[in-house]
Amino acid sequence: MPSEIEDIKIPPIRNGTVIDHITDGQSFNVLKILGVNENNVDSCISIGIHVTTNKEGEKWKDIVKLEDMELDPITVSKIALIAPHATISIIRDYYVAEKYAVKLPESIVGLVRCSNPNCITNKGEPVSPRFFVENQCPPKLRCVYCDRILQNISDNLL
Ligand SMILES: Nc1ncnc2c1ncn2[C@@H]1O[C@H](COP(=O)(O)OP(=O)(O)OP(=O)(O)O)[C@@H](O)[C@H]1O
Ligand SMILES: [Mg+2]
Ligand SMILES: [Zn+2]
Repeated sequence: MPSEIEDIKIPPIRNGTVIDHITDGQSFNVLKILGVNENNVDSCISIGIHVTTNKEGEKWKDIVKLEDMELDPITVSKIALIAPHATISIIRDYYVAEKYAVKLPESIVGLVRCSNPNCITNKGEPVSPRFFVENQCPPKLRCVYCDRILQNISDNLL
């Protein structure tokens, strides 16, 4: 089979964003982060789930292609929390105009809540959750306030 056939599974976009190399199964959480739902989609979104890949160390991946959408830096940081190997490609007139790997900042403020119910940030006080990023891949976040490692990042996204 010629290699071009592989990409025909998902139609090309003229302008927009491709989020590739998403951790297998995490495209559902990526859509949650993007805030898309049945009431607010007005451009084409293509999703590949459990797509086979030839990339070393990656057997399956998810991929999301967003026509006429670009992502703000906060959205990209959230994606890095659940899909640390993802790449973001900005497509202009069918070509990749910009491409970068997602990256977590050194500390994360307000994007995700602490999984410790007794943490000060979960007690109704005016304290935003804040974490040190101890590891990028897989993401390991330590709460600045209670010192615990955040569990189940995708369930705690704000
Ligand atoms: N016009 C387009 N419409 C939709 N997707 C596109 C378009 N052009 C490129 N892409 C996708 O954007 C991503 C980045 O493109 P690139 O050409 O860098 O791919 P690649 O060489 O397979 O890179 P990688 O090593 O990251 O897999 C790929 O997922 C590619 O399929
Ligand atoms: Mg590729
Ligand atoms: Zn905490």
